[in-house]
Amino acid sequence: MADTKIENIPDTMLALRLKGKGMETVDFEEMEVPRPESDQVLCKVEAVAACSSDNKIIDQGAEHSLMYGWDTAKSPVTLGHEGCVRAVEVGEKWQDKIQVGARYAVQPAVPAGPTRNLENYRDNAAGIDKIAIGYTLPGMYAEYVLIDPEVIETSCLLPVPYEGLAHFQGALSEPISCVIAAQQHNVHVVKDAPDAPRRAELGLLEGGTAMVIGAGPMGLLHVEIAMTHKPSTIIVSEPNDKRRGRADEFFTARAEKAGMNLVLTVPDELEDVIADVTDGGGVDDCIVALGINPVQQKSFDYLGKGGVTNLFGGVKADERMIQVDARRIHYDSISAVGSSGSDPSDIREALSMIADGQIRPGNYVAAVGGLDAARDLIEAVRAQKFEGKGVIYPSLRKPLEELDGWSADQERELLGA
Ligand SMILES: NC(=O)c1ccc[n+]([C@@H]2O[C@H](COP(=O)([O-])OP(=O)(O)OC[C@H]3O[C@@H](n4cnc5c(N)ncnc54)[C@H](O)[C@@H]3O)[C@@H](O)[C@H]2O)c1
Repeated sequence: MADTKIENIPDTMLALRLKGKGMETVDFEEMEVPRPESDQVLCKVEAVAACSSDNKIIDQGAEHSLMYGWDTAKSPVTLGHEGCVRAVEVGEKWQDKIQVGARYAVQPAVPAGPTRNLENYRDNAAGIDKIAIGYTLPGMYAEYVLIDPEVIETSCLLPVPYEGLAHFQGALSEPISCVIAAQQHNVHVVKDAPDAPRRAELGLLEGGTAMVIGAGPMGLLHVEIAMTHKPSTIIVSEPNDKRRGRADEFFTARAEKAGMNLVLTVPDELEDVIADVTDGGGVDDCIVALGINPVQQKSFDYLGKGGVTNLFGGVKADERMIQVDARRIHYDSISAVGSSGSDPSDIREALSMIADGQIRPGNYVAAVGGLDAARDLIEAVRAQKFEGKGVIYPSLRKPLEELDGWSADQERELLGA
């Protein structure tokens, strides 16, 4: 039993649980607050953000690729994977490493096999080398979360860099980290002169034309991170006027100040805009920030020579096949990349970009609420009701409040801190 704790930990807590498959099996449960064994850490959840992926696990249950056959009807799980936590009771094994009271951003994708509940996994968890918080590991739509040793051993608890960083900023470091990771997958093979050796450069081409298709919350984050790669132009295609308006509000002046050209357009005019901006050459980098198969396929047509399209949004299993022009791969060296999730190093980079103001997560917050609003928030995300991210503060009970941006000061006021 752990022997270091700071606060009176209650006997029970509220948690949002998936008890089968489908939204009708998602419900609140008053449950015992788990206490850490010597190799675990109990954390208080300070903030947790909703993600469109919450709905994927809800819809797929045991069939989700990160569930490995775990039957959520038999063994319910607590949802929530984008969070910021505070250690409140530290098992003996971690007492030199984890300070009681310290705050952490969580990397939910844990590159290791499980140490607990092996019998719940297919084949007793044989061969599993990636598990996730909010999937088979306890999630953060709860007042407390028990952290297993594999999370700490793989550096998936990342110290918040300074006390003034807001809880919601720590939670949003996760989606930001996915965007950082994704853009580093765009590889360009470059040469400084015809007789110079080739080298590979990670990231969007500096001085090139980058494009983001879809300006949902993730697409907007892509635009913000794209600016750090210093392309000369960023094209954004989005049919929804309000969402295009947000891209304009957040980035037009910033791009201008940084000497970049931001071009906002709609899907119907995209081809003409690309032809105009690139003199018919095509773009160097394309990010498809949505999971629509025909849009992914079409993205190859927008690429210029050596261009890379990044299939950031996942498609449904039965829509997985797309056709690619093999002659363009051969003659024009176009390529496609993709990534899902991120590594602890990407969370660290996200935290540092938030700390020095390169990324402003408050822009993306469109709703806040207490833990009792978590189910409503997940349904709102499914219905695309909000223009940004929703943040839950598990210590509060409060219906969802729609907002246009959020700040550390507003958070402090809400929490009475
Ligand atoms: N790879 C990863 O690590 C990772 C991480 C998080 C989310 N995602 C995925 O990223 C995607 C985007 O997430 P989101 O929360 O912003 O989703 P979202 O559904 O809110 O946004 C998608 C946007 O695309 C727009 N759109 C639809 N058709 C279009 C078209 N033909 N051309 C241009 N725009 C079009 C929509 O109007 C919407 O604004 C999702 O598929 C999500 O699962 C991937």
